[in-house]
Amino acid sequence: MTVQASAPGKVILFGEHAVVYGKHAIAGALGLRANVTLSPARESSLEIADLEIDSPIAQDANPGSLHCFFKAGIDLLDLPPVRIVVDSDVPIGGGLGSSAAMACAFLKAAGALKKIELGPQELWKKAQEMEKVFHGTPSGIDAAVSAHGGMIEFCAGKISRFECPEVPLLIGDTGVSKNTKQNVSRVRILYDSDRQKTEAILDEIDRISLAGKQALVRNDLKALGKLMGRNHALLKKLGVSSSELDDLVSAAVKAGALGAKMTGGGGGGCMIAVAQELDAVSKAIEDAGGKVLETKFALAGARVDSKY
Ligand code: PMV
Repeated sequence: MTVQASAPGKVILFGEHAVVYGKHAIAGALGLRANVTLSPARESSLEIADLEIDSPIAQDANPGSLHCFFKAGIDLLDLPPVRIVVDSDVPIGGGLGSSAAMACAFLKAAGALKKIELGPQELWKKAQEMEKVFHGTPSGIDAAVSAHGGMIEFCAGKISRFECPEVPLLIGDTGVSKNTKQNVSRVRILYDSDRQKTEAILDEIDRISLAGKQALVRNDLKALGKLMGRNHALLKKLGVSSSELDDLVSAAVKAGALGAKMTGGGGGGCMIAVAQELDAVSKAIEDAGGKVLETKFALAGARVDSKY
């Protein structure tokens, strides 16, 4: 039997990095999905056409590689040899949770192959194990959104789904690869060298996340934008933004966005903007060198799409 499953990418609206220290973060599942097809094979192999990958998964796959990531998944479910084909709408390495989406889609498909029903909580825990291949201590927010779908408030492993009206959001990709692992260590160094100052920044981000959730629920876009701007300034203080991200954020705000910020690990990857005039802001982001990704928030978490 061949199984195809998919899981959504995510966008962090508030609280990246602070969430690693047990603070609140707010994120939503996107309409962009990672699709994974699994079929029984004589030896395990991985195909990701977008990355020109098509090769066997060796027992000693390179640590930190995509092969090692999927091998971790195969081992977790004690899966017999499979061919893994990945086709992802979520840009890989763009800060939109591509690895968590691939992990959740893979695990959902693998569960179906083994005839076990993996619910969102179990998927989340297992996806976390796979994610560790890429960054040592992920907070778990990416996999939480991918597994559950919808809008999520996340704090110290506690996942709460909530509802809010659609947000007029734009995502701008700098085209520069982000480096979550490096930036997570950068914040750790700052935290260890000046704990009081860093803790104050993280606490302010925590308050912003909680206020941001309220603004989302109330559909108060003005407040939402203002909080995003403040969150971006604090992420800059943590040293995790980049000149490319800052340029796209300023271009969006100059063009009339109500607010904008980087999203995800930073150093590259994507920024987000909330705007009433989406076209003008979209043009400004493109003029500043960014690529605008068309997508909306989506409710569906990881799911099996077909079996044949
Ligand atoms: O770069 P992404 O999309 O994997 O997001 C990382 C979010 C961080 O808060 C920076 C790290 C984490 O584990 O939560």
